Order: sequence, then structure tokens, then C-alpha cells
Amino acid sequence: MFKTLIEPFRIKAVEPIRSTTPAQRATALATAGHNVFLLRAEDVLIDLLTDSGTGAMSAAQWGALQQGDESYAGSRSFFRFEEAVRNITHLKHIIPTHQGRAAERILFGSVLKPGDIVPNNTHFDTTRANVEVMGATALDLVIAEGKIPSLIHPFKGNMDLARLERVLQEDGAHIPLVMVTVTNNSGGGQPVSLENIQGIATLCKKYNKPFFIDACRFAENAWFIKQREPGQAHRTPLEIAQHMFSLAQGATMSAKKDGLANIGGFLALNQDDWAERCRNLLILTEGFPTYGGLAGYDLEAIAQGLKEVVEEDYLRYRIRVTEYVGEALTAAGVPILQPPGGHAVYLDARAFASHIPPLQYPGISIVNALYLDGGVRAVEIGTVMFGQKPDGTESPAAMDLVRLAIPRRVYTQSHMDYVVEAVSHVYAQRQKLRGWRMVNRPRALRHFTASFEPV
Ligand code: F0G
Repeated sequence: MFKTLIEPFRIKAVEPIRSTTPAQRATALATAGHNVFLLRAEDVLIDLLTDSGTGAMSAAQWGALQQGDESYAGSRSFFRFEEAVRNITHLKHIIPTHQGRAAERILFGSVLKPGDIVPNNTHFDTTRANVEVMGATALDLVIAEGKIPSLIHPFKGNMDLARLERVLQEDGAHIPLVMVTVTNNSGGGQPVSLENIQGIATLCKKYNKPFFIDACRFAENAWFIKQREPGQAHRTPLEIAQHMFSLAQGATMSAKKDGLANIGGFLALNQDDWAERCRNLLILTEGFPTYGGLAGYDLEAIAQGLKEVVEEDYLRYRIRVTEYVGEALTAAGVPILQPPGGHAVYLDARAFASHIPPLQYPGISIVNALYLDGGVRAVEIGTVMFGQKPDGTESPAAMDLVRLAIPRRVYTQSHMDYVVEAVSHVYAQRQKLRGWRMVNRPRALRHFTASFEPV
């Protein structure tokens, strides 16, 4: 009856955020080497650096914390966690980890060897780094449409099945597993269709390869399937998620995203021999297999979060927020990756600052301006994050994006209106943006610690 879609919660605890002056922000950014990862968070007004671990927990989750069983082995909280994960994934072995990259390291550290190849739609930065550190190749096979920011397609995260089949035919001997990332974070938070997941699973079966899902944002992906895929509208997000996982033999998960928790993750898989190897590595670096580097109360928070994240009211609101920001920026003429993703809106930095060549990092230029002018912290997903090859050389990434990641249940509509205003302001002044050069060049995951100076 009414067209305003409200936040489906009321706010029980608040945390002040602090305004700073442009001069204070200039000092803070210079102190941080012009890399917003190195800012103090209290110098940020609206923090859209990541949607990872930054969500607000529900009252039910805070209540669940009190139920944490901190037994070293076999804790009650582990079994609750295991049941919640199994209800969605139906996978056999469920191994808690302190976050997603720990699941990746344990999986890849147990099953990859130098010369191997891991196909994915697009590897996220930590996933790529954990493949490459084993001497293996992280191969991105997203569909061509997924690399054209302005192009509208309902499932831009889909994998190119013809290319996947070709690599399975030609290099099958070097491929221990195939992965798909839902939603495709590095490609704009874009969903993967159920049909495409089915297609990957069919090819994996044909070539006898295990199929794993990087499931960080599985619920958001399920919602897109419900909205956009013919024949799926009548199903619940949980049913769709269960269907997605039923096609896979394993999953890595960061519970800091669609676990609605501030920390945590898991590795889930069906293969007994791989699970044994992974658990051995887990014990070495993370902890006993019933806690995997987490407190009992963390396991409780995740178990509850996994129930809340598939609720329709939550997902409808969640995906509408990014759509709302995307619509407002588009109306202001700002070039964004279309359509808006699940957890974030991505600015098309190459179109936004077309006078800055990719190797002078247009994304960094926009990120820094957005902080200086608006106190908003975003993140570059482009040549700084992905431009360095394993041999140390540098080339432009497929796209230069600036991600405005939206923490779950944290900011209100007026916060989002402010962000739209700040981005529109930077866009109106875009001719003033200048290129940047990297001063130090860390060898791995350089975007976290590099510092920059103006060209
Ligand atoms: N896979 C994807 C698709 C991710 O987006 C992330 C994290 C990970 C794996 C690793 O999980 O952080 O728990 O170790 N992405 C965050 C981000 C950091 O900002 O997009 P983690």
C-alpha cells in the first residue's frame, strides 16, 4: 500500500560518529600515507570500507552470546553452529575457522601443489593470494558481460561455462577443484544464477572435479535468484540457498558477511580425506576442530546470524539499500557498475576519472577525495588490488572500481543520502582529481599497507 520500504528493525544501542574538518582529514590522510586502510576509524564519518565484520548484531545474537559454551572440545555451541551450517549447506564435514581466509588457507594449503590451477568466476584478493602462495594459478572465468561496468545483465557474476570446459579439457590434470564466488565481490557484488551454478556442477561432475562455493554472500545471492531468475520467485531464500549448496561438494565462508557476525567463518566439505588433512592443518594454526580459532560465543552468534540472514524482510531491505544508492548516483550522472551489487555500489573509476591512466590509480584518487571532502571511507577494487602479477610486474586490472560497501543493519537512509551527496560532489569536481604513485610496494596484498604520493 505504501511505497516507502523501511529498515526492518528499530535501534536499541547507538554508537556516536564524529565529524572532522577538511583540515583534520587532510592531516589524518597524510599520516596514513594516503591509504585509507591506515586511517584511524574514529577519523571516519561513514565507513564503507567493507561489509565484513562491520554489521550490527541483533538482540537475539547478543542474547546468544551469553549461551556460549567455552569448553575446549565438544562444546554445545559448536553443535549449534554445526547444525545451523548443515541446515543450509547439507555438507558433511563442518570446520569452524576464525574467518574466510583461514578456511581458504586450510583448504588450499591441504589440496594445492605448485603448478595447479583453480578456476573461479573472480577470485577475491585473499582467495587469489592463498592460491598463489601455494605456487598455483588463480584463473578468473567470469562471463564477458561481467567485465563491462555499464552493461546491465541480471547475473553478471556467472562463470563462462565454455571457457571452463576448455580449461577442464586442456588442463584438467592440474585442476584439483573448481570454485565459484557468490556474489562475485571483485566483479561488483554481482550474483550467479542457479542455472549457471548447475552448469558448473554438471561440468565438474563430467570431469570428476570437486566443486566449491565461496559462500560469503550466499543469502544475498539467493535473494537475487528469487528476484531475477525465471521460476524462482515462489521459493524462500533458504530453499534457494539449500539448492545452491546441494550442487556443491564444499564451501568456504566468511561469517563476517552473511553470517551476520563480527568474526568467524567455516570450511565445509564432503571429502573424508581432504577433511582429515584440513583438520590437521587447522589444529596446527587455528585450534581444535570444534572451535577453530573462535570463542564459543562467536559460534552462537553465527548460528543465530545464519537464521536471520535468510529472512525475507531482511533481504528485501538489504538489497533495496544498494539499489537505492545506485539509483540516486545514476540519477546524478555518476558512472557506477550496473546494476548495483548486493553488498555494495561500485563506482566505475575509469569512467569517473577518465583523465587518470589506470597505472596512476584513478580508484585511489576517488577514494582519497571522498574521504577528504566527505569523511566517507570507500575502497579501491582495481589496479592497486589486482594489478600486481606473481612475477612482480604490474598491469591494469580488468576494471578500476571504487566500492562503497554497506555494513549490514548499521546505517540509515539519511546516512545513505549523505553518501550520495558526497559522491556527487566529488564527481562534479572530478577534473581536479590527480593520479597517484605507490611509494612502497609490499609483495603480497599490497593494497592493505602501501603508501601513495601524488604524481
Ligand atoms: N571471499 C570473498 C568473496 C570475500 O569477499 C572475502 C572477504 C573473503 C573471501 C575472505 O574472508 O575477510 O573473512 O577472511 N572480503 C572482505 C571485503 C574482506 O572487504 O570484501 P575474510
